[in-house]
Amino acid sequence: MSLLSVRMRASLKGKHVSGAERIVQEEDIPLTLCELLKRPGEHDFLKLTVERLEEVEELEFDLPVSSHRFESVKEGREFALAKLVESGVPERIAREGVGLLSKGANPKGGNMRGAVLLDVETGKRLEPDPERGIRTVRVDWKDRSAVREGLLKRGFTERTLDALAIAFKNLHCGVLAELCWSDDPDYITGYVASRKLGYVRITPLKEEGDPLGGRVYFIRREGIGEIIKCLEERAVLIKSLPSLL
Ligand code: COA
Ligand code: AMP
Repeated sequence: MSLLSVRMRASLKGKHVSGAERIVQEEDIPLTLCELLKRPGEHDFLKLTVERLEEVEELEFDLPVSSHRFESVKEGREFALAKLVESGVPERIAREGVGLLSKGANPKGGNMRGAVLLDVETGKRLEPDPERGIRTVRVDWKDRSAVREGLLKRGFTERTLDALAIAFKNLHCGVLAELCWSDDPDYITGYVASRKLGYVRITPLKEEGDPLGGRVYFIRREGIGEIIKCLEERAVLIKSLPSLL
C-alpha cells in the first residue's frame, strides 16, 4: 500500500498560525487537501506539502488516558511535576522543564517552533537550535475519523486527537517523558506523557489568556541522533485500541 504524507502550515505576517498533517492513500489526497485547506483561520500564506513515503511503521496505541482537574495553575503544575518524577525524571530536571515552559522556552523570548530536548541527567538543553526546537512529524491515526468520533463522544477535543498521536510517537522514538501545554491563550489543558503513566491530561496548566506554551521532551543524551531522526523522519501510523473508540 503506497502512502503519502500531507502537511499544511499557514502563517500571518510571518507568524505561524496553523499546522496539520495526515498520512493517507493516494486516492484520498483530494479530500485531504480540501479538509486541510479549511483548517487555518486568518492567514496570508499557506503551504501544502505532499510527499510519498518509502516506509510506514504501524503501531498499536496502548497508552491509558486519564484526566485531572485542579483549582489553580499552581496545583496543576505541581501535579505535572509529580507525574514527571513518577515517570523517572529527577525532580530538579522536572522543575527545570516546568520553569522553561512557564517563562517561554525560546531564549529570544516567547515560544519556540518545536520542542525542547532536555537531558534527564544534566538538565542541559540538547536541541541543536533552541529557538526552533525539534518537531515531531509524519504521524497520523490509521482510522482517524473513528478515533476522532470516539474521543469527541467522550468529551475530548480534536486537539487531543493530534496531541495523543504526537505523544505516542515521541515515546516510541525513545522520549522518556513529555510535558506540554498549548501556546493558544484560550486552551489551558496540557499533559504529561510517559510509558509508565500513559497520557495524563491536566487542567489548568496555565492561566486563561497566557500566550506562552511549548513542549519539553525529557531524554537520555545517548542515542540523541537516533531520537531526533525518528521524531522528524520516521513515518508512523497508529492503530487505535477499542478503548479509544
Ligand atoms: N510552529 C511554528 N512554526 C512552524 C511550525 C510549528 N508547529 N511548523 C512549521 N513552522 C514554520 C517554521 O518557520 C518552519 O521553519 P523551521 O523549520 O526553521 O522552524 C517552517 O514553517 C517550515 O516548516 P516545515 O518543517 O517544513 O513544515 P512541514 O511542512 O514539515 O509541516 C507541520 C510541519 C506544520 C505539519 C507541523 O509543524 C505541525 O504543525 N503538525 C501538527 C501538530 C499538531 O497537530 N498540533 C496540534 C496538537 S498538539
Ligand atoms: P500547540 O499544542 O499546537 O499549541 O503547540 C504547543 C507548542 O508545542 C508550540 O508552541 C511548539 O513549541 C510545540 N510544537 C508544536 N508543534 C509541534 C510538533 N509537531 N512537534 C514538537 N513540538 C511542537
